[in-house]
Amino acid sequence: MTILLKRDVTGNHTKNSRRRSVRLLASVVAISLLVILQFPSVSLFDYASDVSFESTEARSEQRSSLSHSQRLNFTLQPLYQNPTILKKNCSVTVLFVDPNLGKDSMWALESVVANILPLETTCVLLQTSVCEFISSTDGHIDAATGAIAIQESSNKTELYDYNRKAQQVRQLAEPLFGKLIDRGNVRMKVLNHSRYNLKSCHNFYNPSHLLENYHFWGPDEFLPEDSDLILMMQGDAVLCHELNVDKWKDVAWVGAPWPARKGKQPWHFCSFFPKSWKEFHEHAGSTNIPTFPTDDQLCTDTSFGPQGNGGLGLRSRSWLRKAIEYCPVVSRTISGLSQQQYDAAPCKATNVAAEDIYFVTILRGIGAPLPNNFEAALFSMELRSPNAIAEQYSLNQTLMEAMVQRRWYSPTDPSGMEYYKTMLQQGQNLSSQGIDPLIPIGVHKPWNDFLRKRILEDYLNDQCPYMKHVVESSKYGRKHIEEMKAAAK
Ligand SMILES: *[C@@H]1O[C@H](CO)[C@@H](O)[C@H](O)[C@H]1NC(C)=O
Ligand SMILES: *[C@@H]1O[C@H](CO)[C@@H](O)[C@H](O)[C@H]1NC(C)=O
Ligand SMILES: *[C@@H]1O[C@H](CO)[C@@H](O)[C@H](O)[C@H]1NC(C)=O
Ligand SMILES: *[C@@H]1O[C@H](CO)[C@@H](O)[C@H](O)[C@H]1NC(C)=O
Ligand SMILES: *[C@@H]1O[C@H](CO)[C@@H](O)[C@H](O)[C@H]1NC(C)=O
Ligand SMILES: *[C@@H]1O[C@H](CO)[C@@H](O)[C@H](O)[C@H]1NC(C)=O
Repeated sequence: MTILLKRDVTGNHTKNSRRRSVRLLASVVAISLLVILQFPSVSLFDYASDVSFESTEARSEQRSSLSHSQRLNFTLQPLYQNPTILKKNCSVTVLFVDPNLGKDSMWALESVVANILPLETTCVLLQTSVCEFISSTDGHIDAATGAIAIQESSNKTELYDYNRKAQQVRQLAEPLFGKLIDRGNVRMKVLNHSRYNLKSCHNFYNPSHLLENYHFWGPDEFLPEDSDLILMMQGDAVLCHELNVDKWKDVAWVGAPWPARKGKQPWHFCSFFPKSWKEFHEHAGSTNIPTFPTDDQLCTDTSFGPQGNGGLGLRSRSWLRKAIEYCPVVSRTISGLSQQQYDAAPCKATNVAAEDIYFVTILRGIGAPLPNNFEAALFSMELRSPNAIAEQYSLNQTLMEAMVQRRWYSPTDPSGMEYYKTMLQQGQNLSSQGIDPLIPIGVHKPWNDFLRKRILEDYLNDQCPYMKHVVESSKYGRKHIEEMKAAAK
């Protein structure tokens, strides 16, 4: 079956050949799964072979734009180098913040390169650290804080560490992401963890302080070529099928839906958001509080339904900065605002543990463009599946299909209906067991819900071929698999 997937590296794919082969692929998912299992994807872009390469991932053939006749072979730098990016700017900037950039990160990024469109102008920004290369002979690393004091006598430079990290990332990179690095679409920065109040050079968790900082989203960290639209990606997230960013340019923020419930606890989101909005204004001494949807609206009207998990999401930098200016977190240092800006803010965010909940509250309150929560469910899943949302909010088929057409994309059917219909068809038996066959564009923390249902495994691998790599290369993913195996005994 690999012959079906054979492609000419330098040749252009006609629309028809692509369409034909994707159809074939769609009809042989079971076989392609076998192929994936038998041939781990290692040689998708073998430079040495000029003529053809064998693709082992069903969807990788769409990545033909990477195999350009003009060979680019840049090394990782803090700047983009691809001439197309420098000329046209980035259509989206994928933001990956991680001090380690290990195998799980590389698989998460691989799933992005395999599925994001338009790829030619996709940029990736890695925000990382190099402290693992600073040995005891160079200086002293405080175990508790991770702070580094480099000895004056050391002749090691930060550049030296940077280059070692860059080499390491290139070596660890899976084939598609590696090729994107070589093409100069990826840049890497050493993040100043103390500037953004992060725990240590080795440990950026929890990243909320970084992401709630006004300057992080501006020219201090982003280049003129970078997009306003950010795809925020963590190592425990995966893209399953095509994300055409052109179909999401209108949103200020999207992320997986949260359970919609009323109540007193912070995770009772329908109540928590309006309550927080009020408290934030009261804290700043404002009496004039702009209207916010009520808890009933949030729990019944799909256009207000709670969504926005930040582990895998799209966000607009200009809207994030507006949100921070309007309602900084109570610590001025964390917000990064000047004293004057901070004092002028009519709203101060108290009591918000997580940056995604913080932003979603403010963005909703200041009227930023947000998709409805079924669209968010089509984007990504963490805890709630698309059909669970449709059921709770009483959405009919017509409406659901309209949302699919607006947000999904498949190379053979830009209306996105192909994926939708295929999933419904192939997943018929799952539906009858109460399992939602609709797999969104991406999944965050796949072990939360999906993997507990082993029955889904083959189906999931077909619909989300990179998921198992992300799970198996992650410490948490492996832990969950072991727990499930133990429970099954
Ligand atoms: C491009 O760079 C990578 C990493 O430095 C290297 O492995 C590869 O052989 C290079 N390819 C060519 C054609 O120079
Ligand atoms: C690229 O971005 C810069 C700065 O944001 C802008 O001035 C320039 O016009 C953009 N170029 C294109 C081709 O959009
Ligand atoms: C400085 O670098 C040189 C050459 O790499 C090396 O031989 C020397 O030992 C280094 N000195 C210190 C103090 O690390
Ligand atoms: C990192 O940020 C701190 C605090 O803003 C600053 O004092 C320090 O100079 C910065 N370090 C570097 C290397 O830029
Ligand atoms: C589906 O729901 C929408 C929005 O509530 C409504 O306007 C439309 O008439 C409904 N269509 C059908 C076929 O029920
Ligand atoms: C669905 O279930 C029926 C009856 O159990 C079975 O005959 C059929 O092969 C199943 N279809 C798929 C696609 O698994």
